[in-house]
Amino acid sequence: MQNIGICGAGLIGASWAIGFANAGYKSLVYDNNPDSFKNFESLFDKLIKDLLIINPELDAEKIKLNIKLNCSIEEICKDTVLIQESIIEDLEEKKKIFITLDKLASKNTILASSSSYLLISNISENVVHKQRCINAHPALPPHVVPFVEVCGSLETSSEIIQSALSLYKNANYASIIINKETEGFVLNRLQGALLNEAVRLHEGGYASMDDIDIALKHALGIRWAFMGPFEIMDLNAPEGIKDSFSRYKKGIQNLAKEQNSVPEYSDEYLSSLENEQRKRLAYSDRSDRIEKRNKMIALIRKLKLELGEDIQNG
Ligand SMILES: NC(=O)c1ccc[n+]([C@@H]2O[C@H](COP(=O)([O-])OP(=O)(O)OC[C@H]3O[C@@H](n4cnc5c(N)ncnc54)[C@H](O)[C@@H]3O)[C@@H](O)[C@H]2O)c1
Repeated sequence: MQNIGICGAGLIGASWAIGFANAGYKSLVYDNNPDSFKNFESLFDKLIKDLLIINPELDAEKIKLNIKLNCSIEEICKDTVLIQESIIEDLEEKKKIFITLDKLASKNTILASSSSYLLISNISENVVHKQRCINAHPALPPHVVPFVEVCGSLETSSEIIQSALSLYKNANYASIIINKETEGFVLNRLQGALLNEAVRLHEGGYASMDDIDIALKHALGIRWAFMGPFEIMDLNAPEGIKDSFSRYKKGIQNLAKEQNSVPEYSDEYLSSLENEQRKRLAYSDRSDRIEKRNKMIALIRKLKLELGEDIQNG
């Protein structure tokens, strides 16, 4: 059994630990705040329930045994094939922890950051062995969302990228490779474009929050669970993708001209957003809604597996 070091046991670290343990790795978990292990333990059964939806035969006890909490930083660095850093999103903190991990980790260990926006070239700036450092950005929550995007800096070796891709694949994650560093990688660039547009439409008075959410969850989202934008365009016109873009490019280009303003996200606007949100979604329901989100994701994954739309197939 191979060991994975999990550095930071918050939302993402805990979920990674369960994802790797479910795939047969031993997750060794370190955090500098002991309270995070209490949270982890209280969350464990709920997160396992999500996995049981995907695979009812799953052995929860075995997964639990594959996770070691309360490890020291030295322990997560010893004989681990990968360290998945998932501490808070703070460049200085990440730079410091990468220097320590690089000093302590065995020489073949891959050092991966879960960071959403910080680039590995900056995080690993003062690391000696930069060639083994990558961004490996998951989607929340990685125990049920089988995705990671891998990106190296100019200093990262191609062997490390290839080893990371095969390791994540072996752990049942659909991994994509980002060929050149770019802030937000692919996932948050796509998500950011959508969020900015949702805010432009809402702030401009074109549609309510409710209706914008409905357009996503009852239309685009249903397709997006199994088809990406390029595949969708291929089916939008009889001759395929070129035909689709030729027919619709003028409309799409016109939109792009209007979609290039940067929303201000002023305090005043964010407060009005919060007020409108609380009228339709109670804050007190939040943990129920998180449970529902994870359960729905697991059900969609189960359906995709049953339909042969497994990550290994595309
Ligand atoms: N939350 C998301 O939707 C999401 C999605 C993808 C990636 N990420 C990325 O994952 C990382 C973690 O995010 P999160 O949402 O789990 O945050 P979080 O606040 O839930 O967890 C961070 C954990 O790191 C620990 N920590 C902080 N500093 C530390 C240090 N110096 N050494 C050891 N442990 C330390 C904290 O005690 C905490 O348990 C961030 O880089 C974030 O950008 C987050």
